[in-house]
Amino acid sequence: MNIIQAQNYDQLSKIGAAVIAGQILAKPDSILGLATGSTPEGTYKELVSLHRQNVLDFGKVSSFNLDEYYGIKRSDPQSYYAFMYRHLFSHVNIPGENIRLPNGEAQDADAECKAYEKLIAASGGIDLQLLGIGANGHIGFNEPGDVFPAVTHHVSLSESTIIANSRFYSSREEVPRSALTMGIGTIMAAKRILLLVSGAAKKSIMEQALYGPVTPNVPASVLQFHRDVTVVYDF
Ligand code: F6R
Repeated sequence: MNIIQAQNYDQLSKIGAAVIAGQILAKPDSILGLATGSTPEGTYKELVSLHRQNVLDFGKVSSFNLDEYYGIKRSDPQSYYAFMYRHLFSHVNIPGENIRLPNGEAQDADAECKAYEKLIAASGGIDLQLLGIGANGHIGFNEPGDVFPAVTHHVSLSESTIIANSRFYSSREEVPRSALTMGIGTIMAAKRILLLVSGAAKKSIMEQALYGPVTPNVPASVLQFHRDVTVVYDF
C-alpha cells in the first residue's frame, strides 16, 4: 500500500484529485468508481477546478458510483445521484450516458443489483475506485458482518450508519433504511483503489483496517489484499 499523510483536508483533497487526474491523463477513457460522503467533496471541487483550467477532459470518462439509497427518488436532494451532479457531474464534461449509479427507484432491488454488476463487468472493469471509510469500517455500504458480500446487493443499513448519516437529515427517522451497494468483490476487482480518510475520528478505524486482522467485522480491512491501494489521510 502507498500511504500518504496529508497536512490537512485541503491537501488531502488536492492529492486525491491529483491521483484521479493522473489516471484520466494516462487513460482518457478511464472508468472511475466514485463515492459520495463528506470526504470526497474537496476532491471533486479540485477536479472541477482542473477541468475549468483546461487541464482535465472528462469527455471520454465513464463512472460507476459505489452505492445509492434504496427507495429514494433521483430528484431527492439527499440521493447520491443528486449529490454527484451537485459536486461533480454538472460542472465537468462527462457525457450523461457514461454516468451510472445503482437506481434507488427500481421496483425490483435484486434485479437492479444484478444488472448493475453485469454492467460493470461488461464495461471491462473499473480502472480506479475512489473510497471513503465509515466510522464502523464500511466501504460502500458493506457493513460489518460475518462475510464479505461478493457482488452488488441490497443491504439494510446498520444503526451506526443511520446515526452517522442522520447529520444530513432533520431527524434520524428520515434516513433511508437500506441501500444498493457494490459488493466487496466488485470493489476488489477494481484495478486501482484510492482510499481517502479525513478527520482524527477515523484514526482508530483506519488503523484497524490497514494494520489489524482482515475480517468482515472491519470490511475495509480486505483492502490489505488488494495489490494497488493508495491511502491518503489528514491527521
Ligand atoms: C459513500 C460510501 C460510504 C462513505 C463512508 C464515509 O458513497 O459508500 O462508504 O464513503 O460512509 O463517509 P464520509 O466521507 O461522509 O465520512
